[in-house]
Amino acid sequence: MAVNVIVGMQWGDEGKGKIVDILSEDHEIVARYQGGANAGHTVVIAGKKFVLHLVPSGILRDGKICVIGSGVVVDPESLFAEMEQLHAGGVKTDGRLVISPRAHCILPVHKEIDKANEAKKGQKKIGTTGKGIGPTYSDKTGRLGIPMFYFADDAKLRSAINSLLEIKNSLLVNFYSAKALDPEKVYGEVKALAAKMAPFIGDTRKILNDGIKDGKNILCEGAQGTMLDLDHGTYPYVTSSYTISGGACVGLGIPPNRIGKIIGVAKAYTTRVGEGPFPTELTDSVGQHIQEEGNEFGATTGRARRCGWFDGPVARYATEINGINEIALTKLDVLDKLKTLNVCVAYKVGGKTVERISDDLSILETAQPVYREFDGWNCSTAGSTLYSQLPDKAKLYIDFLQEQSEAAISIISTGRGREATIVLGR
Ligand code: IMP
Repeated sequence: MAVNVIVGMQWGDEGKGKIVDILSEDHEIVARYQGGANAGHTVVIAGKKFVLHLVPSGILRDGKICVIGSGVVVDPESLFAEMEQLHAGGVKTDGRLVISPRAHCILPVHKEIDKANEAKKGQKKIGTTGKGIGPTYSDKTGRLGIPMFYFADDAKLRSAINSLLEIKNSLLVNFYSAKALDPEKVYGEVKALAAKMAPFIGDTRKILNDGIKDGKNILCEGAQGTMLDLDHGTYPYVTSSYTISGGACVGLGIPPNRIGKIIGVAKAYTTRVGEGPFPTELTDSVGQHIQEEGNEFGATTGRARRCGWFDGPVARYATEINGINEIALTKLDVLDKLKTLNVCVAYKVGGKTVERISDDLSILETAQPVYREFDGWNCSTAGSTLYSQLPDKAKLYIDFLQEQSEAAISIISTGRGREATIVLGR
């Protein structure tokens, strides 16, 4: 029996979906613990492409149970659209997808406020996905939200929507100069969605803890990445949930002493979507080359991702706060054509060399990366399935990333498909 956690080590989009898909082969249950439809996993199986936002990628393997935990915020409309895509691709969801009744519901008003808020902030915007994530989590912590168990109680649901809209309408009208929403209309819309959601809502905490007692293997899937964590990321340029491995216990109701391995997923370089500090960002033709080769455009919003070199201090920080046991390194093949590569080993801050990220986040705003240069390997690693197939220069690069990250690399991904993977030690 093992409860293993997959966590992003950078700013999200590390390719966790593919790694979850591979590892889910050995796990009976795959459980998503935080975030919402702001995430976007693209998984390619036998040439068929699936874009998943909420449903754990374990759904793509027959017989696996997929759980959406209480730490996730669920947009029913987006969930149904995703399910339609899965059904069209021949994937069954009935009886295989179970959503916690404690997960909070994203309403259209949350998405509206998310977008209006960003527009109002102008230059100071966060660059959110506009999926209503921040407003839904703020309502949850403000004890104003709509958890799914309200769906079963008409009076409670109606009263919660009324209380929520009393405040939101005042904000919409007076602060955002937008139109107020009719609580009765919103109630009717939520009721219709609630009826469609009902078959998927179940006791996820029991499924997971019974699974632990029965010796099942459970894979906990994190969304976004360590540097977007609400407490430990580059605040305020973060998402509104706990993306780090500790979030798995909170968002699923699993005790910390049941967690086994923590697998960090890191790209062989770095990307970031939205605003906020990014010390190793490349704004030149090399950054553009990586963006094109890596198809670095968001699966959720289509936005171009900012690209940069691998950041050692970020990787060490992720290893430290997540307790990473192993790393899955992704998108190595994207770097195949580069003449030289850089890896950030430290930052120069006010004349001092700093090797670790401290709690003083302002450092990242001004940090100048200190690089170690590597020769490019200038040949294709795409589709490699064995470590021995890799060129020596790529092996040197990988060894150095491992050293910088202070954790062992156990998987190397060399392409989009399931098969383009090197599993070390096998
Ligand atoms: P929100 O999660 O939509 O509130 O966006 C907050 C920040 O997190 C923005 O910079 C987003 O671009 C970023 N973000 C949210 N989800 C993802 C993701 O899945 N991958 C990468 N960045 C994300």
